Amino acid sequence: MSPSLAAIAYLGAAILFILSLGGLSHPETSRRGNLYGMVGMTIAVLATVLGPRVTAAGIPWIVGAMAVGATIGLYAARKVQMTQMPELVALMHSLVGFAACLVGFASYIDTSIEFTGAEKAIHEVEIYIGILIGAVTFSGSVIAFGKLSAKIDGKPVLLPGRHWLNLAGLLVVIWFGYEFLQAGDIAAGMTPLIVMTVIALAFGVHMVMAIGGADMPVVVSMLNSYSGWAAAATGFMLSNDLLIVTGALVGSSGAILSYIMCRAMNRNFVSVIAGGFGTGGGAAPAAAGTQPAGEVTPVGAAETAELLRAARNVVIVPGYGMAVAQAQHTVYEITKHLREKGINVRFGIHPVAGRMPGHMNVLLAEAKVPYDIVLEMDEINDDFPATDVAMVIGANDIVNPAAEDDPTSPIAGMPVLQVWKSKTSIVMKRSMASGYAGVDNPLFYKDNNRMLFGDAKKMLDEVLGMLKG
Ligand code: TAP
Repeated sequence: MSPSLAAIAYLGAAILFILSLGGLSHPETSRRGNLYGMVGMTIAVLATVLGPRVTAAGIPWIVGAMAVGATIGLYAARKVQMTQMPELVALMHSLVGFAACLVGFASYIDTSIEFTGAEKAIHEVEIYIGILIGAVTFSGSVIAFGKLSAKIDGKPVLLPGRHWLNLAGLLVVIWFGYEFLQAGDIAAGMTPLIVMTVIALAFGVHMVMAIGGADMPVVVSMLNSYSGWAAAATGFMLSNDLLIVTGALVGSSGAILSYIMCRAMNRNFVSVIAGGFGTGGGAAPAAAGTQPAGEVTPVGAAETAELLRAARNVVIVPGYGMAVAQAQHTVYEITKHLREKGINVRFGIHPVAGRMPGHMNVLLAEAKVPYDIVLEMDEINDDFPATDVAMVIGANDIVNPAAEDDPTSPIAGMPVLQVWKSKTSIVMKRSMASGYAGVDNPLFYKDNNRMLFGDAKKMLDEVLGMLKG
């Protein structure tokens, strides 16, 4: 393929990636967005492999590597549960970081292209920064994977004087950067490069270890952003325009997503990165070992069906438990049944419900729930006082009034869905266990709240049976 044709193909792929991001911003257009992305990536790979920079001798290696990568990717994508998606994403980010490090070292020892003067300095700065970002992304993402999959304890690990440690690391990295640029030959430059890589790896581990479970979603999207910048840095090292553009798209969209999530959790981005907030991965018994938090009013499927049947306005608030129980199809059946009876049923979606951005929207779309009755938190929060029944399905932190009422709560200030303002709220979960943030939920003890204990799918099947019966 000629260089100009490859450049045109890259331009086409970049446009498709932008259209893809646009499409992914709404459930209705997300399939199309995915398709754009797939076509764009196919064009990008073909233009690179058949492009001017790859020799015929290299093609069998590339095809072999692609076959191995595609097999692993296909296996992982088929095997992964929806609820394990964030860990898979974290693992993928680590690979982008690792690749940036390898490309950095390879470009440094590659003598096939001669750089001199300012060009040489720029090339070396690209290598240094590329490896730095890549190493932080790699080790940070591996730790994020460990925390999300509960292989590593979710509690923040706070070393004494950790901010000073980070600052010292930064100064050493800057000093070795200077040494690296001054190095006369490859052998002399290798030592500062390796020292910096080790410090960057340690920094990645230190940074993510200090972040508690409740802030992990933000960290994953931040690492997503880092992986984009690592890819862009790789693009600079390889003089590959498409990699630069794509990396910048991923880097900036990840940064925007981190910002949106911080706002949804009322967390300051800097304090998230500074770490220390949040407890383990959830499921500690509520108010464990301390004062009894109050009395709850349990109900059965029959009473739940009765309350729903008598309601005019119902708001369903799904959370992580609905995903675990895979209850979305029964939720749809119940919604359909109630709507046929003239009851106004809508959904309230919290921006961090579940375990990944858009988790609930994906599940509800899969179950064919119409998009127009699925509302965001800000769109529905004012409607709870006029709601007869708010049905909370496997959600906990996102409906916790302590976020508003208790300034000492670890989730204080996080905007929540105010289900307690409706006439009756029904919380569907298996036990009194806490949610992801590991905090007790005063909603459960309110007079107008009912607890429907059990697996969400099983209980909803019973409720549906009662409604139809
Ligand atoms: P959580 O607060 O984690 O609560 C989920 C509840 O579902 C648990 O209390 C659990 O109680 C219940 N549950 C689990 N399995 C169930 C089943 N089979 N049937 C019925 N209930 C079940 O979830 P949420 O309200 O959706 O809030 C999300 C939390 O995750 C937030 O703290 C958020 O910051 C965090 N987070 C979000 C993301 C993103 S990006 N969305 C990513 C990572 C973390 P039982 O054990 O008693 O059943």
